[in-house]
Amino acid sequence: MKLPLLLGGQADAFSRSPHQFIADLATEQGGMGRFRLYHRQAIAIADAELARQVLIRQGEVFQRGRHFRAFGLFLGDGLLSTDGDLWKPARQWLDPSFRHEPLAVAFPGIQAVIREELDRWQQLCQRGDGVLDLMPALKLLMARLITRTLFSLSWDGEQIAGFCDHIDESMQHTLQLIRSPLVAPSWWPGSLAGRVRRSGLAFNRLLEPALQQIDGREDNGGLLTVLQQGRRGSRCPLTAGRWLNELKTLAVAAFETSATTLTWTLDLLARHPQELQAVQEEIAATIGTNEPSLADIARLRRCEQVLLESMRLWPAVHNVVREARASTRLGEHEIAQGTLTFVSIFGLHRNPCLWERPNDFLPERFADRSRPRPGYLPFSIGPHACLGRHLAMLQMQTLLILFCQRFHVSSLDPEPQHAIAQVTLRPLRSPRVFLRERA
Ligand code: HEM
Repeated sequence: MKLPLLLGGQADAFSRSPHQFIADLATEQGGMGRFRLYHRQAIAIADAELARQVLIRQGEVFQRGRHFRAFGLFLGDGLLSTDGDLWKPARQWLDPSFRHEPLAVAFPGIQAVIREELDRWQQLCQRGDGVLDLMPALKLLMARLITRTLFSLSWDGEQIAGFCDHIDESMQHTLQLIRSPLVAPSWWPGSLAGRVRRSGLAFNRLLEPALQQIDGREDNGGLLTVLQQGRRGSRCPLTAGRWLNELKTLAVAAFETSATTLTWTLDLLARHPQELQAVQEEIAATIGTNEPSLADIARLRRCEQVLLESMRLWPAVHNVVREARASTRLGEHEIAQGTLTFVSIFGLHRNPCLWERPNDFLPERFADRSRPRPGYLPFSIGPHACLGRHLAMLQMQTLLILFCQRFHVSSLDPEPQHAIAQVTLRPLRSPRVFLRERA
């Protein structure tokens, strides 16, 4: 897709590869570069201190703008589409449910869903066909994890496929809207905004009845129970409509980010047999073929390092976007009110001033936990840092451990992967791998 109104002769580069364009511009200009996007002034940042300024210290000035309102058309007012007073009470309310203790409640369910999915993959191997198309396979896994462990829904294959299709299609429309220079109102016939709103309504129709059914139950065993119990307390600030918006937000925020990260991670392991072996040796020495406990997950450091390095190379959220609500200064730079601000997570993670051999897959660089990493922010930082980061890590580490216990994996794609920046930074083509059962 071309962006015809982008000024400054950089339209092609931006539309071809927004993550690379923003990262290169910022890095080549010493950590911050300026450009124009349509009629707007914009800045690109790949400097750790400036990123902290935008996301933490001047968070009141740099707030969410039009990009996030597009999510609002789809999801309604929720954590992903709001800021300031509309955002804060919901965040404060939901935060405690995503800390370590409530997640421990969800852990047996997470393991069960992953085990069932790996059983399906194992059956492929036993039928003599161990070829796995990673992106669709991991989307299905994430859809099952979200619907079962977050919402306690036992959906069949068709419903799960419907859930994946709805989110994919809606995200595609939302992305088109975000990248479009001219936005007609949603009531305008054939407008993109109208399409996004209709996707949102269709998503409501899919989730609402199931969620209302759960609402009536006392205990549904999943993470939602924790959320529900909290909601029945006396001071819940969320109306019923806002509550539903937040549940939809959680589903969308968790789905593609985690599926994409896992896709990159398994593809990297399939291309780096020595790394796979190191992970498998650590698992064998620590838990053998037993299921990991929560304490084991914390002890399996190599698995964690592989995930951290995979998210460094391919951060699912490649840019965090804000708008300057007032004129301000960032370091020595004057920033005008209204400036679109792209904090390039991809640029920070590949910045040669911050990382040795930034383009290489070297999980051991994360071996020293005590070393500060100011330029590493796959889950962002500050008040809007990912609400589900502990859940995401728990799910991904569990999958990685159970997967490596069962399978050898090798890549079927000879060429290195290229990335495409959609809502998340994902492989241009879904990687295909070959699975072999371990003896
Ligand atoms: C690998 C997986 C994930 C990655 C890389 C990721 C990354 C991020 C990032 C970078 C942000 C910040 C966006 C911003 O500042 O504008 C964010 C926000 C958010 N994430 Fe995640 N995320 C992941 C998984 C999850 C999961 C599993 C959940 C929930 C179950 C979740 C829920 C959210 C929510 C609700 C927000 C908005 C937070 C707020 O503004 O208060 N994410 N995520």
